[in-house]
Amino acid sequence: MKNLFSMEYLTNDDIFNLIQTASRFKSGKEIVPQYEGKYVSNLFFENSTRTKCSFEVAELNLGLKQVNFETSTSSVQKGESLYDTCKTLESIGVNLLVIRHPQNAYYEELENLNIPIANAGDGSGQHPTQSLLDIMTIYEEYETFEGLNILICGDIKNSRVARSNYTSLTSLGAKVMFSSPNEWVDETLDAPYVNIDDVIDKVDIIMLLRVQHERHGITDEANFKADHYHEQYGLTKERYRRLKDDAIVMHPAPVNRGVEIDSELVEAPKSRIFKQMENGMYLRMAVIDKLLSRKGE
Ligand code: CP
Repeated sequence: MKNLFSMEYLTNDDIFNLIQTASRFKSGKEIVPQYEGKYVSNLFFENSTRTKCSFEVAELNLGLKQVNFETSTSSVQKGESLYDTCKTLESIGVNLLVIRHPQNAYYEELENLNIPIANAGDGSGQHPTQSLLDIMTIYEEYETFEGLNILICGDIKNSRVARSNYTSLTSLGAKVMFSSPNEWVDETLDAPYVNIDDVIDKVDIIMLLRVQHERHGITDEANFKADHYHEQYGLTKERYRRLKDDAIVMHPAPVNRGVEIDSELVEAPKSRIFKQMENGMYLRMAVIDKLLSRKGE
């Protein structure tokens, strides 16, 4: 694997291979390789807590040295392009780039770089490591994807998580459904749109998405009614009670408490939200190992 750009480039075998490596790291069954003498730089042009920090911990666990890069103090502020920034880091000896950027498919202009890139989220395009950690979390629970009913709720149109997970979970055999307000329907994805109350007692997984105000217009944000959204599309206590006994609740986070999910449900027994974050660190170790070792090529 030269780069990790999009779930669309991964086969089901690639996915299983990554989540199995991550699980072995988590259980302590796999000796953690040490990439001494290798350098990594994390380029975050959009805000992040989970993805940035879990990549950082994963890199430290793998013995990598981190080359600090902050957009606010870099020559990006003098107009340097993304390509020139990345080529500069490659030239001075950085061996791996982790990039989050607001532009969809920003990575297309970086394909000819000689060092690997892990996409940490591109605009409303893809978020492959989030999808992989979600898949790992689901697999821990069910040990299969075939026949699982998965409801993804919320801001589908602006969600790189919905797009990445729709592609991969469908390919793995799950049935993915969406529920969202009309203005956040994504016509490019082929999943059925359903009323949350019609399916809440039948789904195996309900995955709630953050309402992405930063990708909405000022008017949309001003007109947004959090209480109304919670009632129509959120996980309320009543809906939680209707879930199947073995159903689980997921959310990529950060969570808007009381909007996508009732605040008291964030750590409820069926919630796997913090488990997703825990798995994310091991999954990112597996991704970095794969990119630096070029295993399986
Ligand atoms: N889920 C996720 O990508 O969170 P961050 O934006 O905090 O990285």
